Amino acid sequence: MNLKIAVLAGDGIGPEVTEQAIKTLKAVEEAYNHNFSFTEAPVGAIAIDKTGDPLPDDTLKLCLDSDAVLFGAIGDPKYDNDPSAKVRPEQGLLKLRKSLGLFTNIRPIKAYPTLIERSPLREDRILGTDMVIYRELTGGIYFGEKKLNKKGTTASDLCEYSEYEIERIAHLAFKAARTRKKKLTLVDKANVLETSRLWRKIVTNIGKSYEDVELDFLFVDNAAMQMILNPSQFDVILTENMFGDIISDEGSVIGGSIGLLASASVGDENAMFEPIHGSFPQGAGKDIANPIASILSAAMLLEHFNLHEEAQAINKAVEKALEMKVVTSDLEEDSKYGTEKVGSFIADYIANAEEIINYNQENIDYGQSTII
Ligand code: IPM
Ligand code: MN
Repeated sequence: MNLKIAVLAGDGIGPEVTEQAIKTLKAVEEAYNHNFSFTEAPVGAIAIDKTGDPLPDDTLKLCLDSDAVLFGAIGDPKYDNDPSAKVRPEQGLLKLRKSLGLFTNIRPIKAYPTLIERSPLREDRILGTDMVIYRELTGGIYFGEKKLNKKGTTASDLCEYSEYEIERIAHLAFKAARTRKKKLTLVDKANVLETSRLWRKIVTNIGKSYEDVELDFLFVDNAAMQMILNPSQFDVILTENMFGDIISDEGSVIGGSIGLLASASVGDENAMFEPIHGSFPQGAGKDIANPIASILSAAMLLEHFNLHEEAQAINKAVEKALEMKVVTSDLEEDSKYGTEKVGSFIADYIANAEEIINYNQENIDYGQSTII
């Protein structure tokens, strides 16, 4: 398959983790005879520094002209600590989501058996967790009208949803549930919010066409609690933009590290793949960032184009890395492996998996081929 991939590595650790995802995709390209092209463009704080714009026109154009976007991370402390900043890196990401029409953000959360003891949650609570969050991504309070009065003393953010915006993501979430454990939970705040009541009404209606899927509802405060108390009860969670943002970070503790969580953002025309972690500026350039979330995002990219076997090859290689503890220090305190080595191990495993009979720790350490 020919795929034109736009690479928007962005800020902080974005470039180093994305480099590992590209390395992995190149291994897949080689092993399975595909033809992937990678074109880089600036986004975020780095783009503001260069052009004054967090999403320069050329970057957006490249994304629109590509089959998929591989995104790194966005954000820089110099903006976080300045509430009066007129231009912010995050605006680039939001504009990109909106301009590409990426209305559904898909965030899988899984408890990896090999990492279970890493989670701050008790093993018996998280065992068997395998859920996916369908987060609405281009509507709600993120994109509603924003107001600040002249004196700067009163502000508001409008949360608005239309029937159309709810319907299109609801169908995707029901379809996903059909291929999984056939359970869909709508997370909302229907006891307080008018938008949530609209979500419930529409999702209930759509549910009638998916009778094989069990539909239930949870208020977001209760959902936040249930995710920690009993996360394995969930299959597909469907929710609006801001609730999805919050509960997906919460869900990351189940996996043991936010450095493991990948995501896909899809629309009718475009698709973008990114780790859910931020730019971790304190870790930038130190070769300590966990590249797995970015690498698993690359697997989601392949899955999106129905390259199932290829995506599985990445997932297997990641599981092998976890099993062999070829991981960064967020997962193994005194690990001797950095971002680069973890990426190389995973790429190598994909390229050579069939011939590998055994692994030689020493070779891994030297960053050489892992084949004996
Ligand atoms: C995310 C991030 C973004 C969001 C920020 C960077 C705007 O937290 O992708 O979850 O809130 O959507
Ligand atoms: Mn977030």
